[in-house]
Amino acid sequence: MEYRLSPSILSADFLHLADDIEKTKEAGAPYLHFDVMDGDFVPQISFGMPILKAVRKTTDQVLDTHLMIREPERYLKEFASCGADIITFHLEATFHVKDCIDIIHDAGKKAGLAINPETGVAAALPYLQDLDLLLVMSVHPGFGGQKYLPESDRKLKEARKAIDEAGLSEKVELEVDGGINRETVGRAMEAGATCLVAGSAVFGGKQGDVYSSVRYYNDLFTRG
Ligand code: DX5
Ligand code: ZN
Repeated sequence: MEYRLSPSILSADFLHLADDIEKTKEAGAPYLHFDVMDGDFVPQISFGMPILKAVRKTTDQVLDTHLMIREPERYLKEFASCGADIITFHLEATFHVKDCIDIIHDAGKKAGLAINPETGVAAALPYLQDLDLLLVMSVHPGFGGQKYLPESDRKLKEARKAIDEAGLSEKVELEVDGGINRETVGRAMEAGATCLVAGSAVFGGKQGDVYSSVRYYNDLFTRG
C-alpha cells in the first residue's frame, strides 16, 4: 500500500500561510488539503477561491480540495480554474452526484466523493467506477480538532473491500478526514485508508512543529 499525508491548512497560521505550506512541502507532504465551508452545509465559513488561487501560486503540491458546500455544482468549474487538482464534494450536498463528477472530469480534474459519518458506504458505491477518490469523514464536518469517531474503522474497511473487489485499488484513493493524529493514524491505515488528512496534528503544535509532524507521518507511511 502507498500512503499519503494531506495536511489540512484549516489549522494553519493564516498570517504566515506560505511559510506553513513551505514546511509541509520541505518535509515531503505530497498533498495539501483545502477545506471549503459555506456556513450552510456546515455551520462554519472558512475560505474560498481567492485563497485557493494564492495557494496555487505558492506550491506544486497536489491541491486536495474538500468542498463542504451545498449544491457544489454551482462552483465546480470555478474551483477547477482556481487550481484545485482533486475536487471532492459531499454526497449529502447535491441531488446531482454524477453530473458533479462529470463537470470535474470535463475540467480535467480528479473527482472525489465524501460521505458524512451518518451516511453508509453503500450510498457511494454506485459511483465508485467514476471516482478518483472516496472520502470517509471520521468526524462531523465543519471543525478541525475533533475526535476520531471509532465507527469509521468499519466504514473504511467496507470501502476498502468494495474498492479492491471492483479492481479499482490503483484508481480510487480512499481518504480519511478528521481526528487523525499519532494515536489514530495506525487504525485508519489498518482499516484501509491510503490518503490521510491531518489538520491540528500537523499545524496545531501539540505534537511538535509543522516540519517534524509531517516527517513523523511520512516516515510511518514509508515503513507501511
Ligand atoms: C473538518 C475538515 C477537516 C479538518 C480536519 O470538517 O474537513 O479536513 O481540517 O482537522 P483535524 O485533523 O484537526 O481533525
Ligand atoms: Zn477536510
